[in-house]
Amino acid sequence: MIRSSSFLKLIAAGLFASSIRSQLGLPSVLLNALAASDFDWQMLTATDSLNWTDCYSGFQCSLLQVPLDYDATEKGNASIALVRFPSTSPKSEYLGPNLFNPGGPGGSGVSAIVSLGSSFAEFFGPQFDIVGFDPRGISFSTPTVSFFNTAAERELWTPPDLNLRYPSLNATSEVVSNQWSQFQLIGQLAEERDTEDFFQYITTDNVARDMLRITEAFGFEKLQYYGVSYGSLLGTTFATLFPDKVGRMVIDGIMDGEAWYSANLTGSMTDTDKTLQTFFDSCVAAGPDACAYYAPTAAEIATNLAALTESIRAQPFPVRTSLSHGIVDFSFFRNYIFASLYSPYNAFAGFAEGLAALTAGNATGVYAANQVPAFECDCAAPAAPFTANIYEGQITTSCGDGPVVDDSIADLRAFYADQAQLASFADIWALWRVHCSGWKIHREGRFQGPVGANTSFPLLVIGNTADPVTPLMWARKAAGLFPGSVLLTQDSPGHMSLVAPSLCTHGAMHAYFQNGTLPAPGTVCAVDAELFPAASANGTTSAKRFLASPEDRLLDAVRAIGEVVRPIAARGLPGIA
Ligand SMILES: *[C@@H]1O[C@H](CO)[C@@H](O)[C@H](O)[C@H]1NC(C)=O
Ligand SMILES: *[C@@H]1O[C@H](CO)[C@@H](O)[C@H](O)[C@H]1NC(C)=O
Ligand SMILES: *[C@@H]1O[C@H](CO)[C@@H](O)[C@H](O)[C@H]1NC(C)=O
Ligand SMILES: *[C@@H]1O[C@H](CO)[C@@H](O)[C@H](O)[C@H]1NC(C)=O
Ligand SMILES: *[C@@H]1O[C@H](CO)[C@@H](O)[C@H](O)[C@H]1NC(C)=O
Ligand SMILES: *[C@@H]1O[C@H](CO)[C@@H](O)[C@H](O)[C@H]1NC(C)=O
Ligand SMILES: *[C@@H]1O[C@H](CO)[C@@H](O)[C@H](O)[C@H]1NC(C)=O
Ligand SMILES: *[C@@H]1O[C@H](CO)[C@@H](O)[C@H](O)[C@H]1NC(C)=O
Repeated sequence: MIRSSSFLKLIAAGLFASSIRSQLGLPSVLLNALAASDFDWQMLTATDSLNWTDCYSGFQCSLLQVPLDYDATEKGNASIALVRFPSTSPKSEYLGPNLFNPGGPGGSGVSAIVSLGSSFAEFFGPQFDIVGFDPRGISFSTPTVSFFNTAAERELWTPPDLNLRYPSLNATSEVVSNQWSQFQLIGQLAEERDTEDFFQYITTDNVARDMLRITEAFGFEKLQYYGVSYGSLLGTTFATLFPDKVGRMVIDGIMDGEAWYSANLTGSMTDTDKTLQTFFDSCVAAGPDACAYYAPTAAEIATNLAALTESIRAQPFPVRTSLSHGIVDFSFFRNYIFASLYSPYNAFAGFAEGLAALTAGNATGVYAANQVPAFECDCAAPAAPFTANIYEGQITTSCGDGPVVDDSIADLRAFYADQAQLASFADIWALWRVHCSGWKIHREGRFQGPVGANTSFPLLVIGNTADPVTPLMWARKAAGLFPGSVLLTQDSPGHMSLVAPSLCTHGAMHAYFQNGTLPAPGTVCAVDAELFPAASANGTTSAKRFLASPEDRLLDAVRAIGEVVRPIAARGLPGIA
């Protein structure tokens, strides 16, 4: 079950939210953010061993001390927030910790596992402790990255509305120059607010080092790990730094090391338009009863969508709801389309209804599904403790991992134009580069690739045939960089395999974690889900659940996890991205 938190529920944009929010996150699974009041992490003392305290319901929490700087321990420590859904097997069958990273970067592993721990236990097996951790700088790990002194300042600088936080670079000719300016300021603000001088240590190589510490604190030598989206890059970075410490590793929705460590995610868009094409094609195949945006051919649907886009550009929709108000404009709409591509099995039917409603002149439903509640705060209160810092986490980690970007406005325009040659969603995705154009904090000696190594155990690498942000080509490449690893291709649209349950894919993952068995090279898996499910399918599902077979339980578990896969939300929440 997805836990709904008392606040920020609507915001859970990331990957695991139940409403589509937004966008840019690398594919990450977003979850609902946990409220600080659900458990008081400040009660715990960080030490170099694991001291578990009951927390949330059925979970245990601990804080692990790790060096901020692995080369200079006198610089002090960071404290890593850990949660586990404990193994329910007899001690003799215990297989140790299995770590999960939900992507982002900046996604909270604690929130992911508190939301989904029992589903992961079903998925991987009861012999594991299912472990979520907040990467250094993120959420309940301290020190926590924040660029802002108060909640009001954060809201003014980075309004969470989709169209304001992630404007389309194609909305007007000024967006590139305005965003460049904004991120010059964000870069300056980050430097100034980093008074303890720790942002430089918030990098993927250090998170990988922390994962080894976590593993060792459990008394194990080798990592067992599942990483999705950005979490795949964390996995390949770990496997490169510590090739002989790989126990089991599944990476899914592959972010390419070369692209990541050069701050150039253009290749990320290789299959994006292919994913959109699956919407057109599957809508035609589903017919007018199941797909509300039906037209007899894919080409007609594409033409209708382009016409709707032009009409929204010419005349946006002003919308008021009981909770909020805002504008469904060109940028909002581009984000809305892009977001639907992350999790097609959950999103396409509703997306088609949204498009039909907009075409009929009604934007209320589309807006309401993505709205951010009107801002309220104790405006003088300090921003900290701030536990939903995926926005800061993403910028600090991705820009801090990369080279000094320093692009001029002209450079950024050229970068965007180059990416637009490859894909129609460059207007949104090229923002990754813009975000780093004013970033100044780079640690000397950080790992910058290349990734690749001979590992102590082969990796299982998973790629979808039409993933909007991590193309299959990158999964193939990663499998080639780690000799012995096996590529499993899931024949589905969407970001990472979790977007649709597949007995073939997820059964193979289960067997890999249980037994270390790898699927045959070249395995291509179909999914057990439909893009436009017929409205009548319910009864059979619940009847099946009553006497569920292990296969049904596995599919149900993956389905529950997949429901939270979404682009990272504007107002970042923990999730799987
Ligand atoms: C950092 O952590 C280590 C290991 O737990 C500990 O020995 C050391 O005293 C800590 N340093 C500081 C400054 O707290
Ligand atoms: C473990 O944590 C509890 C609080 O949850 C604390 O009372 C106890 O002293 C800790 N033990 C060690 C060895 O740190
Ligand atoms: C910008 O949007 C228009 C539609 O309004 C589209 O025709 C054009 O191709 C887009 N430009 C880029 C670079 O994507
Ligand atoms: C970014 O990568 C693309 C290929 O994916 C390449 O065409 C382009 O030149 C690169 N841009 C920069 C600035 O390195
Ligand atoms: C517009 O859509 C909303 C939500 O989908 C619905 O509640 C409302 O009745 C619609 N308004 C009109 C005028 O049809
Ligand atoms: C793996 O080992 C082989 C054989 O020793 C070697 O040729 C190759 O370069 C190694 N690959 C990597 C990525 O280290
Ligand atoms: C693990 O291997 C054993 C022995 O080969 C087999 O009986 C069992 O079904 C396997 N389990 C899974 C989950 O593949
Ligand atoms: C299917 O289940 C959903 C949610 O449980 C419910 O709202 C809907 O009415 C059901 N449809 C049918 C045909 O039973």
